[in-house]
Amino acid sequence: MTTYRIASVPADGIGPEVIAAGLQALEVLAKRDGGFSFEVTEFDWSSERYKKTGALMPEDGTEQLKAFDAIFFGAVGAPDVPDHVTLWGLRLPICQGFDQYANVRPTKILPGIASTLAGVGPGELDWVIVRENSEGEYAGMGGRAHRGLPEEVGTEVAVFTRTGVSRIMRYAFKLAQSRPRKLLTVVTKSNAQRHGMVMWDEIAEEVSRDFPDVAWDKMLVDAMTVRMVKKPASLDTIVATNLHADILSDLAGALAGSLGVAPTANIDPERRYPSMFEPIHGSAFDITGKGIANPVATFWTASQMLDHLGEPKAARRLMRAVEKVCADGILTPDVGGTANTAEVTDAVCEAIRGDNI
Ligand code: IPM
Ligand code: MG
Repeated sequence: MTTYRIASVPADGIGPEVIAAGLQALEVLAKRDGGFSFEVTEFDWSSERYKKTGALMPEDGTEQLKAFDAIFFGAVGAPDVPDHVTLWGLRLPICQGFDQYANVRPTKILPGIASTLAGVGPGELDWVIVRENSEGEYAGMGGRAHRGLPEEVGTEVAVFTRTGVSRIMRYAFKLAQSRPRKLLTVVTKSNAQRHGMVMWDEIAEEVSRDFPDVAWDKMLVDAMTVRMVKKPASLDTIVATNLHADILSDLAGALAGSLGVAPTANIDPERRYPSMFEPIHGSAFDITGKGIANPVATFWTASQMLDHLGEPKAARRLMRAVEKVCADGILTPDVGGTANTAEVTDAVCEAIRGDNI
């Protein structure tokens, strides 16, 4: 029996609601599959903690997480705390401190959920966006001078390193190679940005030589938004910078029906540190406490976590259960249903227990 040590950080908004749902499904899976179990430790790191103590997490926060096999993260952000404070106070120190440089965001149209694109059905939109997660526009480089004066200046410098770009490119090519279509699209803005972005293109070219069986092409990020909307079936695996992929993955989630189903995995591919799994949607204060948050994104990211932990059978079973429940029309309001979080969660747990799943 393998016991996985999971650090749960539900944090803000609907985070606690969806993480509770995710843990419930993981428990049922462990019982159903046997062979593994979870030991979950919950951390109360959040905007609430910030308001009480001045910090979202303790100073040695990442140190405390080191011993875990994975981190299951809800959402961070509060209406009365500036977003850059919450982001840099919790999520980014974990992603960057643990060098979780590959952010993996699968999107597909689940059965029973309508794409926002007319006439596009399941199978015609099945992507994985690989987001560079350690540097680029999120490197935190820059500053402010002449504060408060008319000549005030603010700089925000994107940092691209050969190491950073090569490793994410290699990760993306490998992932593309493992998928049936073996198709990768490299996104940049190398017409207007002629330094770091041109280096991206060059490194893509270099890395591609080690993956002769992967067909790949390049897109400028603006044209990419058009292609995602107009020719979704022409895409499969996508790699882009931290900011470009942030934006494209919101678009991807919306095209697949709702951000409420979109998962993300912050992976340290070298497994030096725990990786972190979270729904993309964020804290969603407009629906917090109403019990109607869509738990599907959290189930999907729990499935990514199981894959990463080395439990691919359970990972697939969880996704099959989610797909069955969606196909049965047990959906939350964001995807056109009338069910609440608990009803969707109970249905998924019931499906996991079933014989034919
Ligand atoms: C995401 C989110 C975050 C990001 C926010 C919360 C800062 O939008 O995970 O995509 O931009 O990285
Ligand atoms: Mg985003």
